[in-house]
Amino acid sequence: MIKTGWSFYTGAILGLVALVNAQTISVSSTASHPIPTTLWGFMFEDISHSGDGGLYGELLQNRAFQLVTPGSGNALNSWSAVNGATISVIRESTPISTALPNALHVVIPTGRNGGVGFANAGFSGIAVTSGTTYTGSFFYRFPASSGFRGSATVSLQSSSGSTLGDTTVSLSGAQTSWAQVSFSIRANSTPGDLNNRFVITLDGGSAAGQTINFGLLSLFPPTFRNRQNGMRNDIASALAEVGPSFWRFPGGNNLEGGTVDQRWQWNATVGPLQNRAGRQGDWGYINTDGLGLFEYLLWCEDLGAEPIMAVWSGFALGGTSVAQNQLGPFIQQSIDQINFVIGDDSTEPGRLRASLGHPDPFKLTYVEIGNEDFFAANTYTFRWTTYANALKNAFPQLHFIATTNVNSPVLTPKPTEYDVHVYQTPTWFAQNSFFYDGFARDGTHYFEGEYAAISTNPNDIFGPPSDGRLIFPTVESAAGEAAFMTGLERNSDIVFAASYAPLLGHVTNNQWTPNLVAFDAGNVYRSTSFYVQKLFSQNRGDQYIPSTLPSSTGTVFWSVVRKTSTGQLIIKISNTGSSAARLTFNLAFNNVATSGTAQVLTGVPTSSNTPQNPNLITPQTSNISTGKSFTYNAPAVSVNVLTFGAS
Ligand SMILES: *[C@@H]1O[C@H](CO)[C@@H](O)[C@H](O)[C@H]1NC(C)=O
Ligand SMILES: *[C@@H]1O[C@H](CO)[C@@H](O)[C@H](O)[C@H]1NC(C)=O
Repeated sequence: MIKTGWSFYTGAILGLVALVNAQTISVSSTASHPIPTTLWGFMFEDISHSGDGGLYGELLQNRAFQLVTPGSGNALNSWSAVNGATISVIRESTPISTALPNALHVVIPTGRNGGVGFANAGFSGIAVTSGTTYTGSFFYRFPASSGFRGSATVSLQSSSGSTLGDTTVSLSGAQTSWAQVSFSIRANSTPGDLNNRFVITLDGGSAAGQTINFGLLSLFPPTFRNRQNGMRNDIASALAEVGPSFWRFPGGNNLEGGTVDQRWQWNATVGPLQNRAGRQGDWGYINTDGLGLFEYLLWCEDLGAEPIMAVWSGFALGGTSVAQNQLGPFIQQSIDQINFVIGDDSTEPGRLRASLGHPDPFKLTYVEIGNEDFFAANTYTFRWTTYANALKNAFPQLHFIATTNVNSPVLTPKPTEYDVHVYQTPTWFAQNSFFYDGFARDGTHYFEGEYAAISTNPNDIFGPPSDGRLIFPTVESAAGEAAFMTGLERNSDIVFAASYAPLLGHVTNNQWTPNLVAFDAGNVYRSTSFYVQKLFSQNRGDQYIPSTLPSSTGTVFWSVVRKTSTGQLIIKISNTGSSAARLTFNLAFNNVATSGTAQVLTGVPTSSNTPQNPNLITPQTSNISTGKSFTYNAPAVSVNVLTFGAS
């Protein structure tokens, strides 16, 4: 293929002369294997504010001053004083809880008119929409008893200081122990941008000289399915659109912790928010742990996805591996974690889950032991052995997924499942659509737990020169992934699940690009790769139908599945080449409908959906003629899903 210069003109001319790229494909009428119902799903970890400031609905950043050092530069992250108040983060002498030792110390000066207090700027802004009711709460106490009785105004304000909605709450100076105040604010105006603030003020005259401590301040918009402490509606809805069948969590590297003590621990993430200390996440920011294990599991149910849950495996990213004879308590913690998900009331974690309102066990089939343990493969040998034996003994019904390179090193007991990751170029993905075809059928199954085309330059996949690194997925990268995914579908006798990564990333506050879905405080941007995931997930079959194999070194890739419940045949085609492909399908089915639909994603190969042009590339549906023999033209650099009846 000529790949010099992706101009419109070259593409068009190649398209006209390149009917060389014509192929005839025979399609069997007999399935070769069933397709696992878990095939397409999502991988999630808190990176690029995908959890705090993203999917998790909390609008206030640094809401409880978790893990910050009083007086340090980041202690007041996202907070600011309003109209001359003095604010600082202090280590409380009588904290709200042992988990939350810090508080915001507010001194109202004398001689100020109007509202005096403090504000939070959210996660790079707060989206405010007229007619929406925001619910929130905070704790306060007066460190020294005072005769003050009065009200505080709680409001949402635009960048110019105009009030977008407010309410008042009563505060008493006699309150020297912590009291929690709840409120709701109905917005009466939609500002022009996201630079809005959450503000609490007291009247400068009547509150002059007062000192008040505040803690655990929270504000939520309406959440997905109106869950308390739930998910941000627009992001959650975009993910739900895909219809994923699994949700891998909580990492990813964010499972591991920089140190052993910083690892993700399930029991620090459940129960009342004031009992959650938060943790130093692995992607450079503090995790509130407000999005905890119970929230993840409810979200899985709301999404109709089953969890693929990881347990910590005795390795911290800073390089520490726990010695084999020290693993006992950590393995017990992972047994407790699994019992929180599926244990009955004979287990303490099972009773805890029931007390939170979910007596029934959650669905759980797959548990991943660690994450990317090829980083410490020399110790995973004994860590895998110790964890896998203990966990299989405790939960014989569950499948445990290993995370080193396949059979390298050889692990005992032999893993029945491996998680395989790949970040590569669009070209690599197209050229590796036969990645799994040569794998031994020896009872081992594979989870393609992270994959994405992230750069067009093979030399900068994980670092400088970074000249090809993508900010947003492109048409070309999405087509490469789709080519690879046709191979996953063909090999779904041994590939049981696959997920693009990372799933979510804030557009300006991120540690990684590209992401499947980008967002800011008020918008969601669906990428070209997002639409590929959606096309594959929404057009699943339950049977794989063999067809003439594509050339592994070619540029056009396809897979054929059948959806028994609707009697439909679904053909997915990725044309990664720079010219259209003319494909003639000869079907062995007796009855084939004379028409069907084509869903097509295509565009300028290097183009992306961006905040400036979020809907530039979307799948277009049209009617096509089909039959026992029919021809379909797949545009240059395109992903196509053909659907029609066949029996
Ligand atoms: C979580 O459980 C571990 C033991 O598995 C314990 O050491 C730790 O203190 C607990 N953390 C919290 C916050 O309860
Ligand atoms: C496709 O076919 C359906 C059913 O035959 C028809 O209702 C629809 O209008 C057609 N759509 C287009 C875009 O031609």
